[in-house]
Amino acid sequence: MSQLVASTPGHLKGIKIVVVGAGSVGVTTAYALLLSGLAAEIVLIDIDKQRAEGEVMDLNHAAHFAQARVVAGEYEDCAGAAAVIITAGVNQKPGQTRLDLVKTNYALFADVVPRIAKSAPDTILIVATNPVDVLTHAAYKLSGFPVERVIGSGTAMDTTRFRHELSKEFGVNPRNVHAVIIGEHGDSQLPVWSLASIVGMRLKDFAAQKGIEYRQDAMDACARRTKEAAYEIIRRKGKTNYGVASVLVSILEPIITDGDALMTVSRVGNYGGVEDVALSMPCKLNRTGAHIDVPLLLDTSEQEALRKSALSIKEVIDSV
Ligand code: 2OP
Repeated sequence: MSQLVASTPGHLKGIKIVVVGAGSVGVTTAYALLLSGLAAEIVLIDIDKQRAEGEVMDLNHAAHFAQARVVAGEYEDCAGAAAVIITAGVNQKPGQTRLDLVKTNYALFADVVPRIAKSAPDTILIVATNPVDVLTHAAYKLSGFPVERVIGSGTAMDTTRFRHELSKEFGVNPRNVHAVIIGEHGDSQLPVWSLASIVGMRLKDFAAQKGIEYRQDAMDACARRTKEAAYEIIRRKGKTNYGVASVLVSILEPIITDGDALMTVSRVGNYGGVEDVALSMPCKLNRTGAHIDVPLLLDTSEQEALRKSALSIKEVIDSV
């Protein structure tokens, strides 16, 4: 989030954002969005209307400090929204994988996505519900929207976690680490080591210049902690919410501001020779959605790992 105060471009332009789902990811997203100043109006929709109303009452007391309007709404209220963020659905219990959630959450999407698409045929859908790649693909099919207007939060979260891990390892700010996680937002994700850098230097060179030892086992541990972060958090507190909510707002920002930011988000396409699948690659985000402008230059082992990730997502897509 670039700013935490009130008189904002979003406020001036009358931007409406809808958040579907008043669970912990939905309300944390609404709150982060409120503080970001990107929206003039935030609509919160939940099947449990009373819960949505309660959250909205509370959020409006925070809105006092941020000058945006928060309302509880229905699917018809998606009309005119710049973006609709879908967070609704069951989430992982300790020990469950994201893919375990597919049947329940697909049924929910089959109900809500056509209703959103009918009310807001020009909006951009941002999917956060897991398994996010499978559901991004489902939202694309169910909405009839062009691929660039259906975006999954995907590995934007994992890339953030990965940069955090590497930044601790190398003693620099995460913003100075250029490294991405691509593929599934889940167990088959992959770090792109061949392109990882800090201030333009490959990690090995950066370590050498800094006079520290470059250890492959320490790098592998960073990737492992990234992949297992959600499991570790869920084991301790039963859910994740702050990280993903912040990532959702960071995805929204270049969409609202037409910012052309490159982020690893999930989008339907053909990847690693696998057709019609959704997974994360760096995409350019702007007011027309997510665009794959420049394909990543992967080495052979990364290409193979990406193909495996695509195949494992495709298998689940084909099963629903
Ligand atoms: C996360 O990675 C659980 O997908 C969620 O935080």
